[in-house]
Amino acid sequence: MSNRDKILNFLHDNKNSWISGEQISVDLGISRTAVWKNIKVLKENGYSIESSSKLGHKFLSTNNAINEYELRKNIQTSVFGRGEIHTYSEIDSTNVKAFALASEGAPEGTLVIAESQSKGKGRLGRRWYSVPGKGLNVSMILRPQIMPSSAPGLTMVTAVAMAEALEQSGLSSYEIKWPNDIIVDGRKAAGILSEIKTGPDVIDFIVIGFGINLNSEPSDYPEEIRDIACSIKDHVKTEIDRCEFLGKFLINFETHYFNYIEKGFKDILDLWIDKSGIINKKIKVSLINGSFTGIVKGVGDDGNLIVHTEDGIRMVNSGDINYI
Ligand code: BTN
Repeated sequence: MSNRDKILNFLHDNKNSWISGEQISVDLGISRTAVWKNIKVLKENGYSIESSSKLGHKFLSTNNAINEYELRKNIQTSVFGRGEIHTYSEIDSTNVKAFALASEGAPEGTLVIAESQSKGKGRLGRRWYSVPGKGLNVSMILRPQIMPSSAPGLTMVTAVAMAEALEQSGLSSYEIKWPNDIIVDGRKAAGILSEIKTGPDVIDFIVIGFGINLNSEPSDYPEEIRDIACSIKDHVKTEIDRCEFLGKFLINFETHYFNYIEKGFKDILDLWIDKSGIINKKIKVSLINGSFTGIVKGVGDDGNLIVHTEDGIRMVNSGDINYI
């Protein structure tokens, strides 16, 4: 354990009490200067620690910070988030970074997490806007030994794992909107973007990125998305601990992921369909070159929607849908 983690544990164990620098130094066998320097870094990382030249230091709260210590404390998986975790206060896009790391050989389970992204990527070339300090922007590296045609199912695995983490955090009403959004009361709270690198008939790696608004307020969003975005806190009325939420998500994800690799599509499809409520809904499908309407009759093994239209059955694998 690093000196910083030792100091953090020590302060955490004595939460809300003053501890002198001298006592920390003697009890942990760390020099006074190193104690002071590490506490300074902890404060910069978002921990709320009060310091007084007479009394010493007092740990107040984590301030819902994302850092390696809080993450490791909350992650109880066996692969995802157990190895490399790369955290950034700002980055262009966690998906871009994860793709680069995967190309250099980063192992399955590697996570890239950023407080804010200057070029957060959404589906269909759109941008993803995230409010710093109030949500999660995470990309995961996967190296599944499945056919490339089975890859879309992993986006569904992610959506189901996220929906379950939301339920575990107290959200009772939401829907998964095809293909990858979490919608609460008509507004978008989360999105997923999967990117794949394949060889002939094999997957080299997949990057699955997800963004979720956990604690943002309507006034945090730019004008153009204020009427279409929402956060989970808007609905559960209490602040969500971001690292705890990620811990819940990762356990759910890993369980469904290994099940999917071993047993295939059926289990996750049933869960996804149940959480989407999409079957027999009338939808409008908007494509680059036009739109059509129909009734959803099912979801194929490739994640495509099976839509009954007046011209017969159509499979939908891209574009946007809206309920009508
Ligand atoms: C969408 O709804 O269109 C998908 C949004 C995906 C956003 C996430 S945030 C983390 C990861 N990094 C990105 O640049 N995009 C994804």
